[in-house]
Order: sequence, then C-alpha cells, then structure tokens
Amino acid sequence: MGSDAIQRRAFLGSACGALGLAALAGDAAGASADDAPAGGKVPPELQAVRDKLMADMEANRGIGVPRCDGQFLNLIVHVTAAKNVLEVGTYRGYSGIWLALGLEHTGGRLTTIDIDPARVREARGNFTTAGLADRITGLEGDAHKVAKTLAGPFDLVFLDADKGNEVDYFHAVFPKLRPGGFILLHNAITSRKVMTPYLDLVSQHPEIVHVVLSLSMTDGFSVSFHKRPAGDARSERSAASPVPSPSGRGLG
Ligand SMILES: C[S@@+](CC[C@H](N)C(=O)[O-])C[C@H]1O[C@@H](n2cnc3c(N)ncnc32)[C@H](O)[C@@H]1O
Repeated sequence: MGSDAIQRRAFLGSACGALGLAALAGDAAGASADDAPAGGKVPPELQAVRDKLMADMEANRGIGVPRCDGQFLNLIVHVTAAKNVLEVGTYRGYSGIWLALGLEHTGGRLTTIDIDPARVREARGNFTTAGLADRITGLEGDAHKVAKTLAGPFDLVFLDADKGNEVDYFHAVFPKLRPGGFILLHNAITSRKVMTPYLDLVSQHPEIVHVVLSLSMTDGFSVSFHKRPAGDARSERSAASPVPSPSGRGLG
C-alpha cells in the first residue's frame, strides 16, 4: 500500500469513517446525538439528557455498536422513511436509541429483542431516560423463537445477536421484509467466517442487492436490500402499524 493510501486509511479509521455520514446524520460537529429537524422539536433539557446518556454509553461501550455505526442506523431510518423496524440484540439499547431517534421523525416504531433479562431491564431504563420508551417495544426472549411470531411487514431489520446463526433469522424475517426494505447485520467483517453461510445466501439471493460496508474501518455491516419488483420504482412505505408483542411487555 502506498503512503497516500496508508494516510487515507489512518484518517478514515481515526474519524470512525464518519466522513459525510456525520453531516447526513445531522451531526456535523460530531458532538451531539441530536437528530431533531431544523427548528428542533426536542426540548433542550431532553436533548441534554440524551447527549449525556449517549456519551456515557459510548464511554462504556461494551459490545454495543460504535457511534459511527449507530449514526448509520439512524441514517438508514431517515433515508428509507422506515416505520416498522425490528432489532435482534438489544444489549443496553444504544443502537436501539439511534434507530428510535430516526423513528421519531418517521413516526415509526422499533421492536427490539434480547434474551438476557438483565440487559432488557437496563435497556428499558435507557429508553425511558432518552424519552423514547413509547416508541420502542422491547421483547425478552430467544429471538430465534420470538422473531417467528412477529407479524411485520418490516421496513428495516437489524441483526446484532448470536453470531453465526443468521440464516435462521433470515428465514424468519425475509418473508416479512417489504420490497424496498433492508436487513442489516453487524460484525460482517470481524465475524465473517461464522457468517459465511448467511453472506453466501444474501449475496446470491435473486431478490437481494447485497454489499458489505465498513464505516469504522475495523468492522462493518452486511447490507441486504430487498429489491422491488422490476418496473416498480415507487417509494413504498409500510403502514405505521406497530408489530404486536406476544408478551405485551415493553421496554419502558
Ligand atoms: C452485540 S450485543 C447487541 C448490541 C446492540 N445492538 C447495541 O449496539 O447496542 C448482542 C446481544 O444479543 C443478545 N442475544 C444473544 N443471543 C440472543 C438470542 N438468541 N436472542 C435474543 N438476543 C440474543 C445478547 O444478550 C446481547 O445483549
């Protein structure tokens, strides 16, 4: 690799790949989780609480996505005008908050599933703190079972749970993914080996356009776009129907 390429790579890595994306995500200064529209509907007190919450979560990230990947999730919600979003793997709710911030704009809802009761409790607290509890349905349980019970249709599915078991998730959610919708899978670079069956499936699927995308320069997303039928260029949107919760338990 030439020195130019090395310098470019180092810069992108240090910037968390946020070139352009940060501005698109409404965060050109890189210091705020504010994705409020111009004129801002979010009260300053709530914004300050959100900023602190996100900063605290980022300082103690654990196995949550990095900030740039959270911004990307938020961006996809905006760009697709997604209304019905499913997340598999809630953890503390960091990625869920980025998704739900986008859904505040589209009027949509997030359903997020985690198998760990303590994490579900912690995420519930974080969603409440962020003022997003009424936009998020948190389900506790094994997503391999729970996802099959959800009605859809989904505009966006984010898979970020047990790595290597994505083919099962795919069969559960793809039939409920509307044409024009996306399935995003995290860790498609660092966990690429165990994800090979899934990556082969989506990259060869006749109804899918697939790419692997890295913003952090260390890891990235598998991005699967469910093609619209040929000749159908409409920008379809699903109804803002919430996904029913089998247990009826929300994350706040
Ligand atoms: C990488 S973390 C998710 C991080 C989260 N998306 C974020 O960025 O904030 C993976 C989560 O998946 C959960 N998980 C693992 N296997 C699961 C399963 N079969 N069903 C539901 N959740 C599962 C774990 O408890 C863990 O909280």
